[in-house]
Amino acid sequence: MIIAVDGSAASGKGTLAKRLAAYFDLAHLDTGALYRMVGLAALEQGLDDKNINELQAVAITSALDLSVTPDDRIRNDTVAEMASIVAAMPPVRACLLDLQRHFVAHPTAAGGAVLDGRDIGSVVLPDADYKFFVDADIDVRAERRTKELHDNGQSVMFRHVLEDMKARDQRDRNRDIAPLVATSDAIVIDTSDKDADMVLALALAHIAG
Ligand code: CDP
Ligand code: CDP
Repeated sequence: MIIAVDGSAASGKGTLAKRLAAYFDLAHLDTGALYRMVGLAALEQGLDDKNINELQAVAITSALDLSVTPDDRIRNDTVAEMASIVAAMPPVRACLLDLQRHFVAHPTAAGGAVLDGRDIGSVVLPDADYKFFVDADIDVRAERRTKELHDNGQSVMFRHVLEDMKARDQRDRNRDIAPLVATSDAIVIDTSDKDADMVLALALAHIAG
């Protein structure tokens, strides 16, 4: 069973993907973490988007060399923004596309996999058995992310999180390559007024047919 979960920032796609993976005993890949790790590598080399050529060269090198190890340093808004900048670069996406497809083909995913991101149903796994597109009001999403960052000890202001999120959504939706979009065969779930249990129940009801 292959499940694609796409959606906007802090919409709850990762939460749904994790719960579906646990429920069906499937492998899970948070593909946003891959882009964040490439973004982190670029930031650690002191790069920004003023020198696009150098940024792209470093981003490609780190995308080719990426290991899927969770790293707490990727969970902040500076890394998220850089992730979204390098994510608009076609060669970076090509490297990570290979990595994502290898994950699905690997024996550890023999029973199936859930991938969450922006382009799983549209580009990475267009033949997925189930596709979900998760969204929520921008204020709700910014509130959730602010709380999440506070819980992780980061003192961020709601207003800044909201602005950063709007800019990132805009970039992700409007880029030329693999933009954030709900495919026509995706089940859209608005999580604005639903907790994680309700969202999982909706997804399971759909899968049960
Ligand atoms: O958790 P949140 O939704 O805020 O971000 P994320 O899923 O960790 O993704 C960070 C950034 O990576 C996004 O803003 C996208 O620009 C990029 N991304 C992508 O382009 N394609 C994916 N499949 C996953 C993430
Ligand atoms: O993966 P994505 O960035 O889309 O979001 P997430 O990491 O699943 O969720 C972002 C935050 O919203 C987390 O703190 C979740 O616990 C919370 N959340 C929620 O309040 N209600 C939901 N239905 C889903 C997630």
